Amino acid sequence: MEISRRKLIKKATSMAAGTVAAGILLPQTVLAQNPLNMTTIPSSGQRIPSVGMGCRNYRGQTNSEEIPVFTETFATYHRLGGKLVDTSPNYGNSETVIGNIMRELGIRNDLWVATKVDREGQENGIERMEESFELLGGDQFDLMQIHNLRGVDIQLNTIRQWKEQNRFRHIGITTSNDRQYSAFENVMREQPLDFIQVDYSLGNRSATERLLPLAQDKGIAVLVNLPFGRGRLFNAVGDRELPDWAAEIDASSWAQVFLKYVMSHPANAIPIPGTTKPHHAEDNLKAAQGRLPDANLRQEMERFIDPLLD
Ligand SMILES: NC(=O)c1ccc[n+]([C@@H]2O[C@H](COP(=O)([O-])OP(=O)(O)OC[C@H]3O[C@@H](n4cnc5c(N)ncnc54)[C@H](OP(=O)(O)O)[C@@H]3O)[C@@H](O)[C@H]2O)c1
Repeated sequence: MEISRRKLIKKATSMAAGTVAAGILLPQTVLAQNPLNMTTIPSSGQRIPSVGMGCRNYRGQTNSEEIPVFTETFATYHRLGGKLVDTSPNYGNSETVIGNIMRELGIRNDLWVATKVDREGQENGIERMEESFELLGGDQFDLMQIHNLRGVDIQLNTIRQWKEQNRFRHIGITTSNDRQYSAFENVMREQPLDFIQVDYSLGNRSATERLLPLAQDKGIAVLVNLPFGRGRLFNAVGDRELPDWAAEIDASSWAQVFLKYVMSHPANAIPIPGTTKPHHAEDNLKAAQGRLPDANLRQEMERFIDPLLD
């Protein structure tokens, strides 16, 4: 039986409101009244909110029951001041889904859109990126990244030229696997980049050894994927209460604790937590408000989590 679109949007909205009413989050008005903390991109001087949103799981047919919930997640994120959205042609039909959502909500030009290219050859890469423009809309992406270093030398050549033509505002490379770190570091040393995107979290700190300090030295902005370790950190803390020190950094949820840990690295890392739920988008944006942990508290957070991880 087909459920009407209006009913589904209503359902998605009431799911979000229900969670807020359950006291898990502060009411949206409180978030809306306080501006989000911003991070400056070293190469361009542009300032963007210190937390973004990952769209790896925005997949599905246009008539899927999940689409109205995805739409409400984008609407909530936008309403509360969120800007940065990260996707890839590699995430199923995510570019199609979020392109449609941005068009429906009329918010394409308000958002700071990052996507990726994931092909080896020059022609294939060009085709893939032209398709991303068609699906996501607009004449310019804020960031084009080479996904997991695929075809890195060839794709860098193309995306550098497209940046000169103003099709991209910034360019970068991504990884989420420490087996790639050494090759990743070489590209960082040899090529001019505006951004890197790397996996880093309270439970996965290898990027702090070389990649994040190098980004700092070279003035490369940092996006952080897997800030929750794909949920591993939530499993580790289970239903534990927040420790007393969470109040010292204005964190009212575990998600905010995990995101504030990432954001407080001296490389000014911007986490891009993946979410498909309005109440999670609100929760995560709240991490871009209030205080961050200092070096001592960061160490205390590490001592707290380490025994809880397998
Ligand atoms: N190599 C690469 O370039 C690469 C690799 C991996 C990821 N990425 C990017 O990084 C983004 C983030 O990675 P990820 O999505 O795989 O992992 P993640 O951000 O570490 O974790 C996402 C998981 O956390 C849940 N979640 C989100 N907010 C929450 C909250 N406030 N409270 C409780 N649970 C919450 C999400 O569920 P709900 O959906 O139900 O909210 C989802 O199951 C991706 O979306 C993608 O854009 C890039």
